[in-house]
Amino acid sequence: MNQDLLIRLFRSIEGEKSDDIVTVANLIIEDENKKGHGKLADRLKSILDKNINSTQLFRGELRKLLPQGITIPTDKRHNFPLATLIERDELRHEMVLPVETEEKIRRIEKEFAAKERLAHHGLMYKQKILLYGGPGCGKSMSAERIAWNLGLPFLKVRFDVIISSYLGETAANLTKLFDGIKDYPCVLLFDEFDIVGKTRSNSQDVGEMHRIVNILLSLLEEYHSQGLLIATTNLENALDKALFRRFDDIIEIPKPSKEEILRLIKMTLSSIEKSKDINWNLLVDKMIGYSAALVVKIVNDAAKLTVIGNEKILKQEHVEKSLTENLLYTK
Ligand SMILES: Nc1ncnc2c1ncn2[C@@H]1O[C@H](COP(=O)(O)OP(=O)(O)O)[C@@H](O)[C@H]1O
Ligand SMILES: [Mg+2]
Repeated sequence: MNQDLLIRLFRSIEGEKSDDIVTVANLIIEDENKKGHGKLADRLKSILDKNINSTQLFRGELRKLLPQGITIPTDKRHNFPLATLIERDELRHEMVLPVETEEKIRRIEKEFAAKERLAHHGLMYKQKILLYGGPGCGKSMSAERIAWNLGLPFLKVRFDVIISSYLGETAANLTKLFDGIKDYPCVLLFDEFDIVGKTRSNSQDVGEMHRIVNILLSLLEEYHSQGLLIATTNLENALDKALFRRFDDIIEIPKPSKEEILRLIKMTLSSIEKSKDINWNLLVDKMIGYSAALVVKIVNDAAKLTVIGNEKILKQEHVEKSLTENLLYTK
């Protein structure tokens, strides 16, 4: 690669020391050194060091901000937190997604990362996102991965605390939550958010639930924070149509296709030795239509069969057995 291109590429790297991209960058520097391009290698090293430091500072500051600067709002009655902070180490972020879906999610991340530049031109990043799709295809995980990639604190809304059996309190809790965190850059996740719009079986509650939906609508409409609001839904559960219009982007997280199932398997089994004789094509065909979560479970179970059987190599029969054992979940 020519020098200018390499330098430009290195300038665009953002990451922490442990990130894959930084490891690759260090390998390139080593390689250039070996080729006798010491001067170029030094230049690349200094660009990389500068980028790592600024990313670390940026991520570190954000990470500190939430636990120190903000107390998570609590409900009035019991003083329970209205959201849970999930630590960065616990965020799931290694995903397999179709190219188009990946691009849409990347776009959210890129816009957030460029929010100052966008604001400079009077433009606003996509801030309120709705992710929809069947269960186990990575809706919640996508939200976590966005927080991970942006180095943002991740807050998961606690509907069990928000939805109160006392008249009027649910709405008050929602308002309190939105007000309490609006100045903090974080990812606020409304997971399986349709629950709010669902009518309760007790007919006396219908009016109250209607009111809650309306409050949520107006809160969403007015929501302008420093961070991102991500909501997920199964869609099969009827969601109030009016809610859709309040989002800046609506992204489907689909079931994995054949190619993605294979990538999921490879990713999940990356640390397990696999027999060369496995007919992956045949196995993948049997998993078409399965959710990503089920594919991961099937191959993890197969890996466990290998280990508990004291065998060194994962074989076709392990996956076949696991497929049969998991048929229950496909119904
Ligand atoms: N696109 C994906 N890539 C990799 N793993 C996935 C993906 N989708 C789901 N999984 C696996 O399934 C589990 C459940 O995913 P989750 O995001 O909770 O699903 P949901 O769409 O129901 O929110 C994850 O912990 C992960 O192991
Ligand atoms: Mg989920």
